Amino acid sequence: MYNSDIEKILVSNAEIAKRAEEIAAQINADYKGKPILVVGILRGASIFLADIFKRLEGDVELDFMSLSSYGSGTNSSGEVKMIKDLSEPVDGKNVLIIEDIIDTGITLSYLIKVLEARNPESIKLCALLDKPSRRKVELKGDYIGFEIPDEYVVGYGLDYAEKYRNLPDVCVLSKTVYEK
Ligand code: IMP
Repeated sequence: MYNSDIEKILVSNAEIAKRAEEIAAQINADYKGKPILVVGILRGASIFLADIFKRLEGDVELDFMSLSSYGSGTNSSGEVKMIKDLSEPVDGKNVLIIEDIIDTGITLSYLIKVLEARNPESIKLCALLDKPSRRKVELKGDYIGFEIPDEYVVGYGLDYAEKYRNLPDVCVLSKTVYEK
């Protein structure tokens, strides 16, 4: 189905669909109808975010932020830039961040610090993927789709140099693509 840029499918579309339903049910049970401000991190989280967001119950708002800690390669630069801030204030709100992947943790720990300074009622973190073996700063997600090994993955919103976001599965990118 995929060309030689893709080594293998790591998490299939069907597995993601099932897990997204479970996570959304857990979030609904935990918040029990309390209002939630969902903060989507552009651009990688957009596909997974829709899976979760449409299943949330009660009073739910949606806002987006764009951050970057990667150049066009497969390793974080370690320096986080805010490209787009939220459109609305977060003070007094229950913020639920939805991200594509927690890798070193640098991007999200920066984001959580920025949001904490704005006095939200609470902050929780949901991510489709987690690579715990790559962590450089301590950070734990509240809702994790799948723990994965230290492989560079693309698809389901995740990119390499802005490509492959449209693949329906989470796939391991062939090293030949970035070790040229
Ligand atoms: P962190 O700051 O190292 O945790 O990096 C988080 C960001 O790096 C994610 O939001 C992704 O955009 C990107 N990233 C980390 N690992 C991968 C990967 O395997 N594939 C695609 N993007 C990744």
